[in-house]
Amino acid sequence: MDKLTKKPADNVQLNIEKIAGIFPNVITEIRDENGNLKKAVDFELLKQELSYGIVEGGKERYQLTWPGKKEAILLANTPADKTLKPVKEDSVDWDNTQNLYIEGDNLDVLKLLQESYVNRIKCIYIDPPYNTGKDFTYKDDYRLAAADYLKKSGQLDEEGKRLSQDNELNGRFHSGWLTMMYSRLKLARVLLKDDGVIFISVDDHEHHNLRKICDEIFGSSNFIGEVIRKTKSMTGDDGNGFNLQHENLLIYSKKKSAVHLVGKEKSFANYSNPDNDPYGDWCPGDPSAKRGGDSTYFPIKNPYTGKVDYPPKGRFWAFSEKTLKEYINRGKIKFKVDHGENERGFIFKRYKNEAINRNNPVSSLFATENDFMNQSATMELKGLFNESYFDYPKPVAFIYELVKCCTTGKDDIILDFFSGSATTAHAVMKLNAEDGGRRKFIMVQLPEPTEPNSAANRDGYKNICEIGKERIRRAAAKIKEETGADIDYGFRVYRVDSSDVTAN
Ligand SMILES: C[S@@+](CC[C@H](N)C(=O)[O-])C[C@H]1O[C@@H](n2cnc3c(N)ncnc32)[C@H](O)[C@@H]1O
Repeated sequence: MDKLTKKPADNVQLNIEKIAGIFPNVITEIRDENGNLKKAVDFELLKQELSYGIVEGGKERYQLTWPGKKEAILLANTPADKTLKPVKEDSVDWDNTQNLYIEGDNLDVLKLLQESYVNRIKCIYIDPPYNTGKDFTYKDDYRLAAADYLKKSGQLDEEGKRLSQDNELNGRFHSGWLTMMYSRLKLARVLLKDDGVIFISVDDHEHHNLRKICDEIFGSSNFIGEVIRKTKSMTGDDGNGFNLQHENLLIYSKKKSAVHLVGKEKSFANYSNPDNDPYGDWCPGDPSAKRGGDSTYFPIKNPYTGKVDYPPKGRFWAFSEKTLKEYINRGKIKFKVDHGENERGFIFKRYKNEAINRNNPVSSLFATENDFMNQSATMELKGLFNESYFDYPKPVAFIYELVKCCTTGKDDIILDFFSGSATTAHAVMKLNAEDGGRRKFIMVQLPEPTEPNSAANRDGYKNICEIGKERIRRAAAKIKEETGADIDYGFRVYRVDSSDVTAN
């Protein structure tokens, strides 16, 4: 009977939820006639998701759009037309290792990984080019040529002439980057496990845009938070009296309710056992609670001094009278023989082994310490190679903390598809060596050539993959020497190619 009186299910909303599970980016919100917010489907975007060509049209709606967005969806949905070729001669411990190093454009690689890694990746860390407009060891300028942008944004007529003298060109700085990222993030999401997370480093050039496309791709309800990383300690001035010393890290998930991040271990430094309590170390805790009723509001009298305590104003005891007796009997509540006039007459012990969480939550400010600054990363690379062959690597400690907070150490897979100097592989090996974990890494990197007269090129590293692979070899040797840990230090190298062997 109860079932019959329940509000009927809103089948439309239930169906929309199902579509959201596959295409979170096509879900928008509308208000119904009663002003309530409801989920709705952006049919044009859904049509784009289900089409082999660009779907024309364009209704005004709340979303971030740019010339190339539909192309990005199409790019992500076009099947892989490449394969992976094994490169045994560059690999380490080919027969036994479970780590992968893949050379190629990550768009191709992410498509190829869809064959074996859907719902299998626990942690993705990426540090994509920030679109600063400068080029470093790698290209960091995603600006579209003015003519190309005018064409893509429909500002030219059929004969290629400008429709207006008053052209909009600002979007050309962001459009190329957004198209590049949108397609890759869409593919990456599919690889994540339900309880997996993606960490994305970014700075002010594209931070605002990244947040918008991630809200679309992962669903804004799957946004976990943002971490601030201190990049430098130097004083400086951008000309406006402002010194930028941090960048950002966005954290998204596939299914937020399934995610549990684990921060640093709690210190328990203030716990001790001065009275040899059989329940172990304790510290004085708060005996009061915000909520309660008559059964948790009563006087507690100290038998030694006669002092009577009530809960603090507006609060209740955290226990009933019956539980109070039990607590006194087993020593969790201990009456003081001596106390000041305004002091409570008893101690309410909080035991170390009662602590539900042995770890703190991950702080959004954990990376504001100097250890996480750019210069630490540069020093680390110099320590391995004598030269820093790579511009703006991330510190091992930073990625180590990220991997640690979301993986258990068993068989979790960690993917970095903008891997650069392979700091992520270094961090994964370091963590495994410390806790005996069996985490596996997948590094993806475009073989971007190094500058002809750079130190890297001069020393024989002709492209960034050469730097990345050698970094893993050297980091592995260092970790092995320092810890002696028996972990997987190897990696299989694959190269994007047109032969027909795929990794698994
Ligand atoms: C900012 S760096 C990453 C640095 C890295 N976190 C580290 O600690 O060394 C970005 C990297 O992404 C690479 N990259 C850019 N576009 C790529 C693509 N389409 N496929 C694969 N790698 C790409 C660049 O070559 C560059 O090495």
